[in-house]
Amino acid sequence: MRARVAIVGGSGYGGSELLRILLQHPKVEVAAVYANEHAGKEVFRVHKNLFRLTELVFQRIPEDISQLEVDVIFFALPHGHAMKIIPKVSEKTKVIDLSGDFRLKDYKVYEELYGRVHEAVEIQSSFVYGLAETNRDLIRRANRVANPGCFATATILALAPIVKKGLFSGRIIVDAKTGSSGSGAKPAQNTHHPERMNSFYAYKLFQHQHKPEIEQHLAEIGDFSGGAVLFVTHSMPVSRGIFVSCYLETKEELECIEQLYRDFYKDDFFIRIVEDSPDINWVKMTNFCDIAAYAKGNQAVIFSAIDNLVKGAAGQAVQNMNLMLGFDEREGLISMGSRP
Ligand SMILES: NC(=O)c1ccc[n+]([C@@H]2O[C@H](COP(=O)([O-])OP(=O)(O)OC[C@H]3O[C@@H](n4cnc5c(N)ncnc54)[C@H](OP(=O)(O)O)[C@@H]3O)[C@@H](O)[C@H]2O)c1
Repeated sequence: MRARVAIVGGSGYGGSELLRILLQHPKVEVAAVYANEHAGKEVFRVHKNLFRLTELVFQRIPEDISQLEVDVIFFALPHGHAMKIIPKVSEKTKVIDLSGDFRLKDYKVYEELYGRVHEAVEIQSSFVYGLAETNRDLIRRANRVANPGCFATATILALAPIVKKGLFSGRIIVDAKTGSSGSGAKPAQNTHHPERMNSFYAYKLFQHQHKPEIEQHLAEIGDFSGGAVLFVTHSMPVSRGIFVSCYLETKEELECIEQLYRDFYKDDFFIRIVEDSPDINWVKMTNFCDIAAYAKGNQAVIFSAIDNLVKGAAGQAVQNMNLMLGFDEREGLISMGSRP
């Protein structure tokens, strides 16, 4: 029997990618998809790539979500909305939240960064951080998963092997760039095409919400007590893709840094250690994270690239669902991307 899933917030970019992946998943049936302004519209009229591929219609988010009988609910709502609804979900239903509402363990840090009161502190500890490559066993046993942020995914995957072995010395500089779809489907001045095409700029200096998320999970991977991340985000003039460059000093000279990465990720299908530089083109539309690691003397440089909407959001959420339901982690996620 197929697992029945629902998507709350299915009309945005995250929802669009969830539908694209889940409608092709051999072990899943999409039972319902909910939206806000788009409620009442056929899915294919909003996500035109899905024309002729689904007859689903966006429904209004139900008042009483506890009555919804599905195996898994994905939440792809703007920050601050899932925390109002998830406490009402039946305990028999698994939850995967793509927003930042349940990623941070300390709700005060959440409140400061996201600028709002946390309304579901009592269930915060029931969430597992959903980065499969570092938290697989916990995700398998979890009922609720907080899907990592897109920048956090690319950054943590780039740094995990070094942090696990305690090889870094002091501060790590993370220079991160994203495409415009990271800001969601609703137009805003900073995502408007004439404003973003041909432009490149830094934003959210010293206040990006993914920095504490990165430091929190690196501290779970290894001893990060002497560490700190200087994290700077930039806007790239592309619609999809995240590229992260990490610069750090190591405690000892690392002659075989590439082998260190190959060994660390030897059982992780979605992590590819590549030669030269990763490229957002080769991970586009896929759940892969491509990584390259270099060291000379005590200096190391690590690059990673993901598709923010797939490995950075919907693909990773489906990877987590697969683990939570006991499926092969790769089920429904083998996509070859395209060249160029
Ligand atoms: N975009 C990314 O690359 C990315 C990556 C990782 C995580 N995320 C996170 O995933 C979540 C969804 O992101 P997204 O890019 O898919 O955003 P989006 O394109 O803006 O979509 C937001 C969804 O939430 C619904 N919604 C908006 N306002 C609502 C409200 N007041 N009440 C109920 N529903 C509302 C929208 O419905 P209507 O359109 O029908 O109003 C839409 O379905 C966010 O928390 C985001 O931070 C995004």
